[in-house]
Amino acid sequence: MTEAIIDTARIIDGKAFAADVRTRVATHVARLQADHGLTPGLAVVLVGEDPASQVYVRNKGKQTKEAGMYSVEHRLEATTSEADLLAIIDQLNADPKIHGILVQLPLPDHLDSDLVINAIDPAKDVDGFHISNVGLLGTGQKSMVPCTPLGCLMLLRDLHGSLSGMNAVVVGRSNIVGKPMAQLLLGDSCTVTIAHSRTKNLPEVVRRADIVIAAVGRPQMIPGDWIGPGATVIDVGINRIEGPNGKTRLVGDVDFDSVSRVAGAVTPVPGGVGPMTIACLLANTLTACCRANGLPEPEGLTA
Ligand code: GUN
Repeated sequence: MTEAIIDTARIIDGKAFAADVRTRVATHVARLQADHGLTPGLAVVLVGEDPASQVYVRNKGKQTKEAGMYSVEHRLEATTSEADLLAIIDQLNADPKIHGILVQLPLPDHLDSDLVINAIDPAKDVDGFHISNVGLLGTGQKSMVPCTPLGCLMLLRDLHGSLSGMNAVVVGRSNIVGKPMAQLLLGDSCTVTIAHSRTKNLPEVVRRADIVIAAVGRPQMIPGDWIGPGATVIDVGINRIEGPNGKTRLVGDVDFDSVSRVAGAVTPVPGGVGPMTIACLLANTLTACCRANGLPEPEGLTA
């Protein structure tokens, strides 16, 4: 008689990994302070009162201080003019205590996000969204790397060591996650496919992947039968849905229950990629401070 063996995936503990990254950052920050009298500084700019953005910004400030860094918050009214916002960015660009600047997105509709982001000094662009950093990453040069893709890369390197030659499928083509993620995977010598809503035979494309990055923003869109046995699945989605009891809960872009029965490893939501984003923001701020002062970069905390 044959017995059906139901294997379950390894659940990647992003929360614990992020805590470890923050500890490594804090240790490096303490050394910078002791040896060079330097304190990395991060400025976060929030325009308007979007509740989710307020939560993110509060968490960023808290974790920045916990890592021993200098933290500044600029909370501006939703009606703030572009000229006033650009003036604040100029001031932060010129401030030697500030090594990282993050303008929380989305911005209110009357503000041109591209214009605002490209006004940040690229060396202080800890989000890696400035067009110079996008170009540097795309050409394999030293850049500031977007935090969420950097966090995914760290998790993958920790799990696999070398990613060389692996088939990676990135589902989603956003500037914040999909595109930079594909560049990073290419940099680590993966064979990379960027799939999206218009991709033909999407299930088949995803099934060929050794690594799946789900970054589409559609709740539980990717079921287990799209996943090749043993694949590593990194779920970037954070979607709030209403459960049968009327309460809301967070789910990712993959259907965790069915995927975890097929995959070799999978990140949960919450507790997977999410906590890595702020940890990588702290890592980027530290990196920016080291570069600004001509000091060696922290090992294992950059792309
Ligand atoms: N809004 C949601 N995610 C992000 C992010 O990574 N950076 C910025 N600046 N805004 C965001």
